[in-house]
Amino acid sequence: MVILFFVFSGEHESLPVSELEVILKAGGYTYEVLEKLDQVLRLKADLRCVETVRRRAAFTRICGVELFTCEAETSEIMKSANSANLSKVFRGGESFAVRVKRVKNYASNIDRMALERKLGEVVLKKTTKVRVDLKTPDKTLSGIITDGKFIFGVELAIILPKHFMERRPKRKPFFHPSAMQAKLARCMVNLTKPKVETLVFDPFCGTGSMLIEAALIGCRVIGSDITRRMARGTLQNMAYFKITPEGILIADARSLPLMKVDCVVTDPPYGRSASTFKRTTRQIVEEVLIAVQNLLDRGQRICMAAPKTLNIKRIGTALGYKHLESHFVYVHRSLTREIVVFEKV
Ligand SMILES: C[S@@+](CC[C@H](N)C(=O)[O-])C[C@H]1O[C@@H](n2cnc3c(N)ncnc32)[C@H](O)[C@@H]1O
Repeated sequence: MVILFFVFSGEHESLPVSELEVILKAGGYTYEVLEKLDQVLRLKADLRCVETVRRRAAFTRICGVELFTCEAETSEIMKSANSANLSKVFRGGESFAVRVKRVKNYASNIDRMALERKLGEVVLKKTTKVRVDLKTPDKTLSGIITDGKFIFGVELAIILPKHFMERRPKRKPFFHPSAMQAKLARCMVNLTKPKVETLVFDPFCGTGSMLIEAALIGCRVIGSDITRRMARGTLQNMAYFKITPEGILIADARSLPLMKVDCVVTDPPYGRSASTFKRTTRQIVEEVLIAVQNLLDRGQRICMAAPKTLNIKRIGTALGYKHLESHFVYVHRSLTREIVVFEKV
């Protein structure tokens, strides 16, 4: 086990941490959380988990192995850097760059560029046959200023948001305004704790956002929608990403022609951009929660989005599900979504 740090995008406060922890659990990694800081999580875990996080996470930006953490004070930082063990970081002939990032406005008195220079000098002083290359370094040493702390370590993975941007609803061949952003869809998939080959089901598949994100992390996928147009649209979008689903059905989520799935990830219609076909969102949510209960085994999960005003936590709990977590995502003035995770008991 080593000490790792994960830097999150600042889009949401609680989702990135939950997503990361579920990814580690799904991968079977034991870990110990050391500290939760603003947009940064420090934990002890197996180094190999980084590759899994890199492949799966939506809201993690940087993964690194920590060299030291100290108070965000220049004198403290330099003292820690001078006593850090850098001998195992580099192989002879390697190049490096130091990059310091600041979360929000923490320790604004620290001059980032001056600190990068000073830390670079310490690295050069403490190592042999290592050189600076600011453009294409073999290794990047990353310093993060957050919450009164400075975390310094070797970057192991960078997750670029551009991959999710490439799968924005408008970039897909079949577009509908009710489509969910790829990043949130990926995070919701992760919250159901799927493994490779897990069968993920979306009973309101729309344009296929959830299923595409699930398939891209190695899950098998199956979806259904009440309209032929949307079911076809899902197939069209999946073909664009070279994904072959187990099946895309035209079906009413109240009576599903399925026997068994491993988890459910879905965003039902709210009667705004997606029609509820003369039902209320509450009815639809209740009915689908009842319908999918029969498809799941004990301990399997549902992650669903719903308007906050619906209080879906209460609906699911009343139907006998165990409520695991809820996160609130502001969309616009009249819509905040609740992202809820239930477990079948
Ligand atoms: C909010 S959209 C889903 C969007 C999808 N998550 C995406 O990213 O494209 C809801 C979908 O539910 C479908 N729908 C509405 N009532 C339904 C029902 N009773 N059973 C199954 N699908 C239904 C609509 O046709 C619509 O495609």
